[in-house]
Amino acid sequence: MTDVSVLVDSRGGNTRKVADAMAEEMGIKAKDVATSPTDDAKVLFLGSGTYGGKPGEAMMKFVGSGDFSGRKVAIFGTSGSLAGGQKMIATMEDALTKKGATILGIYHCRGKMFLVNWGHPNNEDLDNAKKFAQEMLNKS
Ligand SMILES: Cc1cc2nc3c(=O)[nH]c(=O)nc-3n(C[C@H](O)[C@H](O)[C@H](O)COP(=O)(O)O)c2cc1C
Repeated sequence: MTDVSVLVDSRGGNTRKVADAMAEEMGIKAKDVATSPTDDAKVLFLGSGTYGGKPGEAMMKFVGSGDFSGRKVAIFGTSGSLAGGQKMIATMEDALTKKGATILGIYHCRGKMFLVNWGHPNNEDLDNAKKFAQEMLNKS
């Protein structure tokens, strides 16, 4: 089994559901990035919700304080709008690339926010997250 970790920054639980689905598919447990400030895995799945167009602070702290050279990262996230999610993921991608990471791939789905995106992430989103996890493992 590849040395792999799933770390997530999820205030409301939407991105956590996605993280749990990916981790389950790989036979591991997802970890909260706020309580796992360091991680040595060679392959990382890093995910966050979108807050004011940005990733969560704990995720950005993790990225900012880590050395990602020679490591592979799959980025995932949820957001209220597609544009918001794209902006958030671009921020993570940029920060991780500057820190030497090789980006394996990106997964995004909608996350409920009050009455918007009701029911998301839904079963289809979670199934797609599992497929993404397998694809990333095959690439890593
Ligand atoms: C404080 C706050 C700010 C948010 N800002 C944005 C935003 O700028 N753009 C966007 O697309 N969604 C935004 N959202 C929606 C969340 O990104 C979305 O509900 C996401 O699924 C939350 O993930 P979580 O449940 O893992 O925390 C915001 C939600 C909250 C609570």
